[in-house]
This record gives sequence, C-alpha cells and structure tokens, in this order.
Amino acid sequence: MRIFRQAQELQQFALETRRAGKSIALVPTMGFLHAGHASLIDIARGRADVVIVSIFVNPTQFGPGEDLDKYPRDFEHDRLVCEEHGADVIFAPEPGAMYAPDASTWVEETVLSRPLCGARRPGHFRGVATVVTKLFHLALPDVAVFGRKDAQQLLVIKRMVRDLNFPIEIVAAPLVRGADGLALSSRNRYLSEEEHQRALVLSRSLRAAKPALEEAGISAAPAIIAAIRHEIEAAGGHVDYVEALDVDTLAEPTETTREVLLALAAYFGSTRLIDNELVQVKK
Ligand code: PAF
Repeated sequence: MRIFRQAQELQQFALETRRAGKSIALVPTMGFLHAGHASLIDIARGRADVVIVSIFVNPTQFGPGEDLDKYPRDFEHDRLVCEEHGADVIFAPEPGAMYAPDASTWVEETVLSRPLCGARRPGHFRGVATVVTKLFHLALPDVAVFGRKDAQQLLVIKRMVRDLNFPIEIVAAPLVRGADGLALSSRNRYLSEEEHQRALVLSRSLRAAKPALEEAGISAAPAIIAAIRHEIEAAGGHVDYVEALDVDTLAEPTETTREVLLALAAYFGSTRLIDNELVQVKK
C-alpha cells in the first residue's frame, strides 16, 4: 500500500493508473476510520482495480466554533484499517497541500444543500463540494463511494456530479450501526458512556417512526416528528432538527413524493449526531 501526502503525487499516480487501463475507486474520508468506513472500502474493492482512500480533515467544511481542532485523528489505526481492507493507496495531505493560501474558487450546490444540516452549518456543503471536486480531480476515479449516513451530503454530491458532468459513478453505501443501534460516526468518540446510552434514542425513535410513517402516510409526519422530538428531549438530548422531506428535492413532500428522508440531528452533551431513515410513501 502506498501513502501519498502531496496532491501532485496522487494525480500523477492516477494518470499512470488510467493510462495502464486500470479502473480507480475513491473512498473520501476524514479518517478515524470505523466499521462504516471499512464497509465503504470493501465496496470500493469490489468495484475497481485500484482503491484510493483519502484521509483529510477538511478545514473548509467546518464553521467557526465547530470541532475542527479536536476532530479525532489516528493515522496509524487508519493505515491498518486501509491495509486490512485491501486499499492500494492512502492519500493523506496536510491542509497546505490541498489549499493554496490565496485559494478563491469554490464549488457550491445551491438547492439540496440549503435545508437540514445546510441551514445549521452555513458553508459546510460548499466546503464538502469543493474538497470532493478537488479529490475527484486528483484521484481521477471511475467510482466514488459515500455512506448513506450522511444522506444530505450524498444527495449534494450526486447532484454536483450530474450538474458538472463528472464522469464518475457515485455509489451509495448502506448506513452501518453498532450492535446497539447507534449509527457509526467518528464523532461517537466524543460521547461519554452515559451520553452514548442516551443517544440510542435516535435510532430507536427512527426505527419506530419508519413503519408508522409508511403505514399512516405523509399526513402523519408532523405528529411523528413531534413524537421523535419529544423522545429525544426526554432522553436528555437537545434536538437540532427532525424533518421529513422529499428525498428527490429536499423540500416538503407533495402528492408526487415517492420516498421521504426522515432526518435528524441532535446534541448529546456538546456532541452533535445525525441519523436518518428512508421511508417509502404510501400512495
Ligand atoms: O463524509 C466525510 O467524511 C467528508 O464530508 C468528506 C466527504 C470526506 C469530505 O471531506
């Protein structure tokens, strides 16, 4: 397995790989890899000749007062996970190797990035779209794998790839949960044992809401959302949002809505967690 720290090294490698007729799969990550990331690498491994995992805590997607400085990092652990899951390359640049000090070009999706996390974290998806574009230009992948846990991110990236004609297939990987139901996230590391136990309400309430919404239809969404909010607050969490939106538009569902993204964000202590379920809408 090779490790590149410089953008040019990766791009040169990717150009040579493509010239040799080999396909490339990219797994973009911010490191501190867990079983969810490992599943993305496994999927990538099954999709291309060469698997590149990027590990980069991207400063431009963090807002002021967010956890950029304390975001967990453990390169040696990440290296082992990548090796065990058959990655060929790790790209782990320093911020200075990714952004010129006077960088002034951004990529911004302007519809799907607006609600949910976009409304609470201004500039977040602009940072994500920009760094993912840069990673695409450097790794030149045929396929890139993203997890469904970051459902809005996945939708924004898919829209960007469509709108900007990237010749890249975006593969959506299933959300991975721990045995207790908590969606795996590098940020789970911040939770105390007690907060972790309290946070189980997120997956529990979504799991209960899914069949209820499927059965009762979208008119029941406000009551179901209120129930989820109540359960989270009762468990000691602080709700950031709970919303049920049309998965194609991320707008309020209409009579043409086929599937709803039931998405939430909540704080346990100072840790902000997200989770979601996709729900088929009864016609
Ligand atoms: O999902 C993440 O870890 C990040 O948002 C990503 C896609 C690697 C971009 O920095």
